[in-house]
Amino acid sequence: MSEAINIGTINDIDEGEARVITAEENGTDADIAVFHAEDGNFYALDDTCTHETASLADGWIEGTEVECPVHSAKFCLKSGSVLCMPATLAARTHKIEVSGEDLLLYPSVSVLGA
Ligand code: FES
Repeated sequence: MSEAINIGTINDIDEGEARVITAEENGTDADIAVFHAEDGNFYALDDTCTHETASLADGWIEGTEVECPVHSAKFCLKSGSVLCMPATLAARTHKIEVSGEDLLLYPSVSVLGA
């Protein structure tokens, strides 16, 4: 179980926006995108789209989905599952916790409990 990383406060990412926590910062082999979804919650997925090389943090957030900015595949922010082609592989999820105003990221801890 990896340690939590304090990545700032809930005010650092506006609703409908995302921020990248680089692999160097998060201690894994991949950049992680932290999304402030339109349901008011925070979610984290691997930043690189599973289709080709694109940053999901640069995509469009709608509700609790993000649309890849390159070929428009959509991913569920809650589960990482693919909602439409051309991507076919789910995005890896990472647990996010809100503690007071702080945002805590648990790199490599899946929200699916897998
Ligand atoms: S790179 Fe994301 S859908 Fe193609």
